[in-house]
Amino acid sequence: MLSKQPKLTLVGAGPGDPELITLKAIRAIESADVILYDALVNKVLLEYSAEKALKIFVGKRAGLHSLIQTEINELIVEYALKNNHVVRLKGGDPMIFGRGQEEIEHAQSYGIETAIVPGISSAIAVPTLQHIPLTARGVSESFWVITATKANHEISKDIEIASQSSATVVILMGTQKIKEIVKIYQQQGKGNIGVAIIQNGTSENEKYVLGTIDTITEKAEDAQIGSPAVIVVGEVVKLHPKMLHASNLYQTQWV
Ligand SMILES: C[S@@+](CC[C@H](N)C(=O)[O-])C[C@H]1O[C@@H](n2cnc3c(N)ncnc32)[C@H](O)[C@@H]1O
Repeated sequence: MLSKQPKLTLVGAGPGDPELITLKAIRAIESADVILYDALVNKVLLEYSAEKALKIFVGKRAGLHSLIQTEINELIVEYALKNNHVVRLKGGDPMIFGRGQEEIEHAQSYGIETAIVPGISSAIAVPTLQHIPLTARGVSESFWVITATKANHEISKDIEIASQSSATVVILMGTQKIKEIVKIYQQQGKGNIGVAIIQNGTSENEKYVLGTIDTITEKAEDAQIGSPAVIVVGEVVKLHPKMLHASNLYQTQWV
């Protein structure tokens, strides 16, 4: 019998709904000897794996990203070098705020073959499922995807730059920073711009709030919105069916 070559495949598991995964991702899971999976991965997807496959949860703990990432890199190499096919299963797309590049580079530095299976990112799928178009003719010509929380836990400067444009802004890892985000937009005089916060998007326990920059903090607190959540800031939020309905009904600006 030919011995297998060490291999790492980064696989995007999609945003939560287990049907929002690619066929290629399922094939990779089926052929894995070891699966290292993240907290945001729907565990149902592990059912595609071989019974003998080792399934290891490597979910990151808030505040300890870099330490845990080093351990994950080491685990990948350790298992792959035993002639295993290691699948690194990540929420959404592995290259969008997924540290995919770091894992690929680390594995390659040990001569391990690597491959990538793209996934459907929460940044796109979560607003789309809520009928919020990230681009819409005459409303928004582009969208930015920004993390609110950088590695040093500070808010990204890009939010301030993006707030000056007319682009739709999709913010990940931002629920803890909502007050700071609101302040940035208010400083631009954009208190009436639409905002949606969608938690656990595409899953059974999805919940969301709609409002404006001026109203969203209170609404999010009332609805007890937590993580993981996608924040969408832009006039496209007003195209959400509930917002359109409200503005047609009362012929007034919704707040
Ligand atoms: C470390 S980033 C990973 C993003 C992922 N690679 C992707 O493409 O979706 C984690 C952040 O993604 C967002 N996120 C991921 N899945 C989500 C979901 N089902 N609903 C809402 N937000 C989600 C949240 O902002 C969360 O804090």
